[in-house]
Amino acid sequence: MSSLFPHLFEPITLGARTIRNRIVSSGHDTVLDENGMIGEDLVAYHEARAQGGCGLIVLQVSGVHETARYTNHVLMATDDSSVPGYRAVAEAVHRHGATIFAQLFHPGREVMDGERGMAPRAVAPSDEPQERFKVVPEALSTTVIKEIIAGYASAAKRIADSGIDGVEIVASHGYLPIQFFNPRVNTRTDEYGGSQANRRRFLTEVVAGIREAVGPDVVVGLRISGEEKTEDGLVATEILDLIEDLEAMTILDYFSITAGDSSTLQGAVHIVPSMQIDPAYAATLSEQVKKITDKPVMVAGRINQPHEAEKAIAEGRTDMAIMTRAMICDPAIASKAQRDAVDEIRACIGCNQACIGHFQMGVPISCIQYPESGRELTFLPRPTVRTRRRVLVIGGGPAGLKAAAVAAEAGDEVVLCEREPHLGGAVLLAQELPYRSEFGGAATNLSAEARRAGVDIRTSTPVTQGILNEVAPEHVIVATGAKQRMPHLEVDDEAVVIGARDYLRARPTLPAGRVLVSDWKGDWIGLGIALRLAEARVPVTLATAANFAGAAIQQYTRTLLMSQALRAGVDFVNDARLVGIDATTGYLQSTLCEIIHEVEGVAATIVSGAPQSVVPDLDFGSASVRTIGDAVAPRTVEEAVFEGLEAASNLSTVS
Ligand SMILES: Cc1cc2nc3c(=O)[nH]c(=O)nc-3n(C[C@H](O)[C@H](O)[C@H](O)COP(=O)(O)O)c2cc1C
Ligand code: SF4
Repeated sequence: MSSLFPHLFEPITLGARTIRNRIVSSGHDTVLDENGMIGEDLVAYHEARAQGGCGLIVLQVSGVHETARYTNHVLMATDDSSVPGYRAVAEAVHRHGATIFAQLFHPGREVMDGERGMAPRAVAPSDEPQERFKVVPEALSTTVIKEIIAGYASAAKRIADSGIDGVEIVASHGYLPIQFFNPRVNTRTDEYGGSQANRRRFLTEVVAGIREAVGPDVVVGLRISGEEKTEDGLVATEILDLIEDLEAMTILDYFSITAGDSSTLQGAVHIVPSMQIDPAYAATLSEQVKKITDKPVMVAGRINQPHEAEKAIAEGRTDMAIMTRAMICDPAIASKAQRDAVDEIRACIGCNQACIGHFQMGVPISCIQYPESGRELTFLPRPTVRTRRRVLVIGGGPAGLKAAAVAAEAGDEVVLCEREPHLGGAVLLAQELPYRSEFGGAATNLSAEARRAGVDIRTSTPVTQGILNEVAPEHVIVATGAKQRMPHLEVDDEAVVIGARDYLRARPTLPAGRVLVSDWKGDWIGLGIALRLAEARVPVTLATAANFAGAAIQQYTRTLLMSQALRAGVDFVNDARLVGIDATTGYLQSTLCEIIHEVEGVAATIVSGAPQSVVPDLDFGSASVRTIGDAVAPRTVEEAVFEGLEAASNLSTVS
């Protein structure tokens, strides 16, 4: 038993089930389905989290009616072909002592994908337009409303009969049940619209229908946003009123509290809050809910470390802690916390890149720090080598650290040389950007993994022929990263021009006046530098060669960053590449046509251009050589870490 986290590891009873601890993986769409069904990948994914010690796993959304297909890969629970999948995942999770529920879902107007690339088609209580996905839904007929309500009940019964312990109605984030309740979204005048009792009717009929279908032994819970935090969204008092009314039905076994709403960019950031948002911030909402119900309450939102979870439970603000990305990033976080091995935890940094970012691209989710996530069947369990080999890794950035850790864990003898005094490579610069200091956690986590695995780490050590002779490696992994590259520009002698990496590294004092930031990629570097300057009251123009600033950043993270930049007064020029700078004017060429845009009164220009790979000029003799990460082609930490995993895994011979 944990001495550090006594509340977190106390069992808890939800309806007819007792759960071994308070750590929850909440419903998250993994895009690991097989044509809308649960297959081996999804089973292996959840089995890893159950084995990692969490108490409860809630499966991703399952559609309850044909009109519930919000993406082209959504799980569907509308017929018995789904049964073997639910059964397999239930058995796998139960094998490791965890409990498993499944989410029952209808998106209403929140539909992202249409059929084969066509515009999405959706149904909703009324035809009120949806702003984020640009959907104008069709108002539901009473006949289809009844069909959908029946769909919730029959899906619940099917799922429960498959061995899943409970079901959770998704009334959060502006999905169908709460669309009915919201008078700004539901403008019907029949028995499902108008008065509060009428707007509540859809949800209460769903709740009652499910309980009747599954009986008393199956847990039935509700997920709801404690506050929708958006234009036309429901505020906390409206939600608390609804919960009080639902509570009076004495049917629901628990409440799962989150925040936000899917229909606007502003509301959607709370669905998966990124690193700019404080850990456990939504516990202020669950605390309110706990005051009006005796039923267990759980809360989500950046609870990425066990001490945050323990604190929220100990203070009575929630009964259970949702740690979803925490377990995408480290599936074994619960067992590590339970044996008080907090130093071994690979903490989620809230970057959103490979988890919700992948979901939004319609590809299987993973984690930039832990690419084994979502690829369990390919990379786990880690093979062990039959014959120990000498491996030299050149470069201590994310790619090199991951490769070194994985090779050493498999049993190889690994030396890692980094020319700089500190490990982390590009991550060390990324963490210098405003609101991005948490990104440095990726370097800390990867370095700790390499050290624990027994890698011989040598910093301030450029690889020379002498080192090669000493280590005599059989395998060399080149992970030397990338450096700054300045684009070809016409530059006046009097102009002040600085590369973005140099600026971040040295933070020189700039001459007074407007700063022009030129951004090639549309990533965090250009936008982050512009934001930092604007917040220091420096006039800034950000010129991006992307379609819009931050185009390469995951949507929720970008929304927060852009709202900060707008408030700070950054000027934007989109679709524009920097071509020349004279003493006080920057010349921008449109990336779309011949138009030249001039930015006047420029005191200094910071250039964030395309980086350039760094490849060492060394003779590796007979050793096998593999180049990975930015040294092959500059990209992001995600590709670097993945290629480190892949390179080291492919060195191994399985015993
Ligand atoms: C990839 C991904 C997919 C998600 N899909 C769902 C979903 O299917 N149903 C749901 O209720 N929430 C979904 N969420 C939200 C999570 O359940 C959770 O509330 C959110 O990640 C915040 O918790 P965390 O900070 O512990 O990650 C998703 C989150 C992620 C990262
Ligand atoms: S990709 Fe980033 S936000 Fe997502 S789980 Fe990994 S560290 Fe966390």
